[in-house]
Amino acid sequence: MKIIKSISHMRKQVLMWKKKGLSVAIVPTMGFFHKGHLSLMRAAGSRADRVVVSLFVNPAQFGPNEDLNRYPRDFERDAKMAEATGVNCLFCPDAKDIYPPGFQTWIRVEELSQGLCGTSRPEHFCGVATIVAKLFIIVQPNMAIFGQKDFQQLQVIRRMVKDLNMPVRIIAHHIVREPDGLALSSRNTYLNVKERESAPALFQALKIAEKMVVRGNLSVPEIIRAVKRHIQSFNNTKIDYVFLGHPESLRPCQKIVGESLLALAVWVGKTRLIDNTLLKPQVNHANRKDKSKDL
Ligand code: PAJ
Repeated sequence: MKIIKSISHMRKQVLMWKKKGLSVAIVPTMGFFHKGHLSLMRAAGSRADRVVVSLFVNPAQFGPNEDLNRYPRDFERDAKMAEATGVNCLFCPDAKDIYPPGFQTWIRVEELSQGLCGTSRPEHFCGVATIVAKLFIIVQPNMAIFGQKDFQQLQVIRRMVKDLNMPVRIIAHHIVREPDGLALSSRNTYLNVKERESAPALFQALKIAEKMVVRGNLSVPEIIRAVKRHIQSFNNTKIDYVFLGHPESLRPCQKIVGESLLALAVWVGKTRLIDNTLLKPQVNHANRKDKSKDL
């Protein structure tokens, strides 16, 4: 596996691959790899001839009081893990090269960046869209893999790619979880023993909502109430938001009529965790409701 720091070397490497007709996939990351990251890397390897993993803790997506300085980092460990997963190139540029003095060009995906995580992190998705656009311009990948765990991020990137005619196929990857359901995250390392016991509350709440919908309860207020009640029954939890709405527009809905996104952000102690699921009403229940409306 090649480790490349320089933007121009990265460009040259990709050019050489492209000249040979090889396809390239990128997996953008901020490092401190876990099984979720590795699963994305493997998915990339199964679809493209060459896999580039970018490792860059992007200062632009952290708010002034967020965890940029204490974000977990272990380059040696990450490099070993990526190599063992069959990654061809680890691209780890310096912040001073990505954001040189005088930098002033930002990508803003307007509506999709507001609401959900955008409410408490107003500049976050502008930082994400800008770094991902830069990575796409530098690496020129045929495809890019993103985890569904960061569902809003995935939709922001999809919109950006569409709006700016970027020739990159965006591939969504399922959420990888611990055996007790907790979604893997580099930030899980912040949790102490007690907090770790409360952390599966998010996944359990999603499951409660899924069951309600399968049983035909399509009432958004009732589902949100049940989700909140479950999370609040755990120690050290504080709900940031519970969102139920349309998975593409990310607009909230009053009633579940088709596939809907249930997304959560919850503080467990001082750590903010996110998780989500797509709620799929059973066709017969949806029909029954629709028919009753016509009567
Ligand atoms: P990071 O949090 O390192 O995540 C990198 C990728 O791994 C993202 O696409 C994320 O959705 C995915 N991922 C994280 N946890 C996952 C899990 N449990 N299951 C499946 N996929 C998971 O997301 C970022 O970095 C940054 O915002 C980035 C896109 C790199 C821009 O800086």
